[in-house]
This record gives sequence, C-alpha cells and structure tokens, in this order.
Amino acid sequence: MNLFDVYPVNPINIVRGQGSLVYDAQDTEYLDMYGGHAVISIGHTHPHYVKRLEAQLHQLGFYSNSIEIPIQKELAAKLGKVSGKDDYQLFMCNSGAEANENALKLASFYNGKKKVIAFRKAFHGRTSLAVAVTDNPKIVAPINETDNVIFLPWSDEAALEQAFADHKDEISSVIIEGIQGVGGIQVAPESFLQKIRSLCDEYNAVFIADSVQCGYGRTGKFFSQDFAGVNADIYSMAKGMGNGFPVGGIIILPKIQPAYGMLGTTFGGNHLACAAGLAVLEVMEQDNLMQNAATVGDYLIKEIKKLEQVKEVRGRGLMIGIELPEELPNVRKELLFKHHIFTGEAKPNVVRLLPALNLTKANADRFLEAFVSVLNP
Ligand SMILES: Cc1ncc(COP(=O)(O)O)c(C=O)c1O
Repeated sequence: MNLFDVYPVNPINIVRGQGSLVYDAQDTEYLDMYGGHAVISIGHTHPHYVKRLEAQLHQLGFYSNSIEIPIQKELAAKLGKVSGKDDYQLFMCNSGAEANENALKLASFYNGKKKVIAFRKAFHGRTSLAVAVTDNPKIVAPINETDNVIFLPWSDEAALEQAFADHKDEISSVIIEGIQGVGGIQVAPESFLQKIRSLCDEYNAVFIADSVQCGYGRTGKFFSQDFAGVNADIYSMAKGMGNGFPVGGIIILPKIQPAYGMLGTTFGGNHLACAAGLAVLEVMEQDNLMQNAATVGDYLIKEIKKLEQVKEVRGRGLMIGIELPEELPNVRKELLFKHHIFTGEAKPNVVRLLPALNLTKANADRFLEAFVSVLNP
C-alpha cells in the first residue's frame, strides 16, 4: 500500500531527539527552531515527560469517558493554576481542529445563533466547521462551504462594528488567533481584541480565542490574548499541550453550562493523554518556561531586528515571523541543508520560528549565527 501523498517532504529521516536537538539516521545533528510545528513545548524526550508517560502506560493506557478519570480532574486543576483561568471548565479532545469544532458548536448551542465572524488569512483547522472559518479556498471542499461565515479584514474595528450592526442577533461567535500563525505571524492589536470582547458582550456572542498555536505559554503569557487584558469565553488549545502526544481541548467560561451529551469523544481525555498534559504543565511550572520563552524570544527578536536584509520581524516570545524580501527565497532551505536548522514557513516569504519553550540562549545564538551567514553569503 502507498501513502496518500499530501505532504511535500524534505528527504530527512529524524530518528531521535533531545531538548531542541534532533538527529537523523546518519546521526547528523539538527537544531529544531520549528518544534515540529509548534508542538514540542518542553523539548524532545524530556526525562520527566518520558517517566510520567511510561509510568501511566504500565498502569492503564485508556478507558472510556463512561467512568471516573481522576487524572482529568488533576489536569484541569493544574491547567487552571498555570493558565490563571481557574474558574473555566475543561473539555478534552485530540487535535486543534477538533478543539475549534467543539468551540464553534458549543457557542451555537449556547446562544442558539448560527453566524460566525472570522478573519482574513485565518487558519483554524481542516474539519468541517474549522475549515469553513479558515480563509483558504484551496482546502475548503464544496461540502464545507456555508453562508454562516463572515470573513472580515484583519484588525479592522470599523468593519467589525458594521458586521455586528448588519447582522444584529445572528452572530453566534467571533473566532480569532491572538497571533495568526499560518497567516504569517500577525499579532492581533490589543485594542482589536478589546473591541471583540465589548461587541461580543453587547450582542451576546461568544468570543473564541484560537490558542492552538499562539497559546500554551509560547508568547511568554499562557494565552497571547492575555496581553490585551481581556478574557475570551472559550480558548481552544492543542499543539504544545501534549509535547507531541495528540491532545487538544477547550476551556469554557462558567456562564456556558454543560448538559449531558452536548459534546463527546471516544479518545479525548484518555489516561495517557492526561499524563502527557500533566507532564508538560509540571515542567512548564518547575522550569519557569513561560519566562524563558519571553526572555529568549525578546533576545531573538532584538537581534533579528538589527539585520538590514530583514523586511520585518513580528511576534511575541517564541512565536516569531521573519519577513524576507522576494530576492531571498531560499533562506529556509539553506538553513536546513547547509546549517542543519529546522524552521517553519508562511507566505509570502516568512521564516517562522516556533521552537520549544526551553530553547537556550546558546541555541538562539547558534540560529542567529547561521542566519546571518545565510543572509551574507
Ligand atoms: C491556529 C491554529 N488553529 C488550529 C489548527 C489545527 O490544529 P490541528 O492540526 O491539530 O487540527 C492549527 C494547526 O496548525 C493552528 O495553527
């Protein structure tokens, strides 16, 4: 059987990793400034993570949500503490798309409305509702098309006010990434997030903060929307939550009440997933990783800003986008094949840095040195 060929892959076979370093089958070392697409939050094979998952696997890997699963409550308590959102309720699932799917559905259950406001260049996932609020016609199949989504320009307060005025009692939710990832690392202005909050309050709409990529401590705060000093009604999470173990979730403000059967999942919140989630939060707390993300991220941004070939540097903490001019289209390739450094990309010509939150200053310097040498051949 062949694989269904949907990924353009690099000819590299990574077989092991430790911290922010990974190694191919020939034992060549690579620096991982990509975190396997923002997933590796506490570093590859972190000893505490390995120990906790291994211990759980020896006890019980899975049982269904039809029984008590105390480790889910333990995870919820820890997540409340580390994120500062103690009073929210946790629903667990398996991926970012699923988290957004549940968030949008829950919003509609809550207020009985159908329309969603999303933004240009947004990416929210590939399942039916998540892809419908994603601004990329190439990945929206005819069956996913719906009139219920209103796309607005990014960060346009007047357009947002107008959309609410035009559709008054129809808007169920507004979904926004605090920092657009796929969209090229665009930071949502604080005043824009505040405007979303006030309009959602005024029109009884639900504010959904897609924190799948920009959340979980990556920016130096637990949720990037926290910089604006406003709370969303629902935050969706995945990627860094399990450091590679597939786990996602939404946290929900108490005003949205649960009812039996409203949401559900077979795998979500299983014992192993919770062990992975707890290990991540324990390491984040013990090793002060949000602070590290802020410090090392600020350092990187400051140093990259000094480079004259760079058009713009955007982002916060360890979610960084470096926009390069068109004349430099091969920087990522050279970083990978000459200097053995993984980075991510975004259109038009943006290098995306999404490394583990415990990236060291030495790792950052290794990247900077290679980057400077690629820019000055
Ligand atoms: C902001 C955002 N939301 C949702 C998703 C979808 O997550 P997943 O691929 O886990 O379904 C992604 C994935 O890149 C993302 O960046």
